[in-house]
Amino acid sequence: MVKVAIYGASGYVGGELLRILLSHSEVEIVAATSKRFSGMPVHKVHPNLRKVCQLSFVEPKVENVINAEVVFTALPHGQSVHIVKTLLDRGLKVIDMGADFRLKDPSSYEKWYGFKHPYPDLLNIAVYGLPELHREDIKRARLVAVPGCMASASILALVPPVKSGIIDESQIFIDAKIGSSGAGSSPTLEGYHPERYSVVRPYKPAGHRHVAEIFQEVSRFAKNRLSIGFSPHAVNMVRGILVTIHTRPTEKPPSLQDLWRCYRAAYDKEPFIRLVRDPTMVHGLPDPKYLIGSNFADIGFEIDLDFNRIILFAAIDNLVKGAAGNAVQCFNIIFNYDEREGLNFPGLHPA
Ligand SMILES: NC(=O)c1ccc[n+]([C@@H]2O[C@H](COP(=O)([O-])OP(=O)(O)OC[C@H]3O[C@@H](n4cnc5c(N)ncnc54)[C@H](OP(=O)(O)O)[C@@H]3O)[C@@H](O)[C@H]2O)c1
Repeated sequence: MVKVAIYGASGYVGGELLRILLSHSEVEIVAATSKRFSGMPVHKVHPNLRKVCQLSFVEPKVENVINAEVVFTALPHGQSVHIVKTLLDRGLKVIDMGADFRLKDPSSYEKWYGFKHPYPDLLNIAVYGLPELHREDIKRARLVAVPGCMASASILALVPPVKSGIIDESQIFIDAKIGSSGAGSSPTLEGYHPERYSVVRPYKPAGHRHVAEIFQEVSRFAKNRLSIGFSPHAVNMVRGILVTIHTRPTEKPPSLQDLWRCYRAAYDKEPFIRLVRDPTMVHGLPDPKYLIGSNFADIGFEIDLDFNRIILFAAIDNLVKGAAGNAVQCFNIIFNYDEREGLNFPGLHPA
């Protein structure tokens, strides 16, 4: 049994972590922190955990999590950075779900997040927590930086065709759609029900932060200048992300077989990646609706011969493969457990 603590357990990501870890056979949760709800039973905030979780929230203090061997941090960006440093100094392993350790170049924190990173050395030891790309490094990691949700979906769809040289790296346009839980549980005007309900609202159509990590990870496989356009949209879902990526072939259009081959080579052995392309079926391309609560990432593709386009799709649950589930997958890798432990929930149909 590994003792774990969750720092920031009252949020949406923290709640999903609790749900997943409570069914993990090798985990004992020793602390779940919240300042606002300290002393209150966890189920008062996460009603789905009534009669499942007997814990009460404790104050977010290092002394309250120090009994753990691993701390999962699920805090707003800029809030983890000093806490993670302290936990690492005390000999704990940290799996951070915020953005404070995802980027390798310290100067990118000023550009994308508006703060000077106080511990650039830690960016060298942090492992970008996408198992499909960094499994071997995750095994030895003291600090895992779990990817951003829209970044995860985009990277998983892009890396195989970029690696195979099938798509023109200078022409990549990502259209992302995301549900409201992606913005966290703090009330905002944008998220207020009359403002949020029924929207299809573009936001940050240029300069969204996730493009920095997509660029960082995909450029490791690019042979030429990589250019990525990324435009997210808030849509009328609570959970889920669909990215639709418009690209062009490098030379003559590949066949569908070429695309199948490149994705199969990358993902056939991956426990959480499914290739979804069956034009005869109503569920013939990825749809986040059927991924709610699951750690799967569904990937699909299409070729548009008339207009020389290749279209890639990826769907995930932003709170699971996009955050808490992926974090648990990394935890399983570090401790050499079956990667699927705690993550067997297949989603719902109909949902
Ligand atoms: N939502 C998603 O789909 C998603 C996906 C991937 C990654 N992420 C990232 O995961 C992190 C958490 O996201 P979320 O959606 O769960 O946010 P959230 O719902 O707003 O929850 C934030 C949590 O952080 C705690 N907190 C805030 N400031 C703190 C501080 N200074 N010290 C200690 N605890 C503090 C809050 O606890 P109190 O009860 O004390 O306020 C709460 O538990 C963010 O960095 C987010 O970008 C989110």
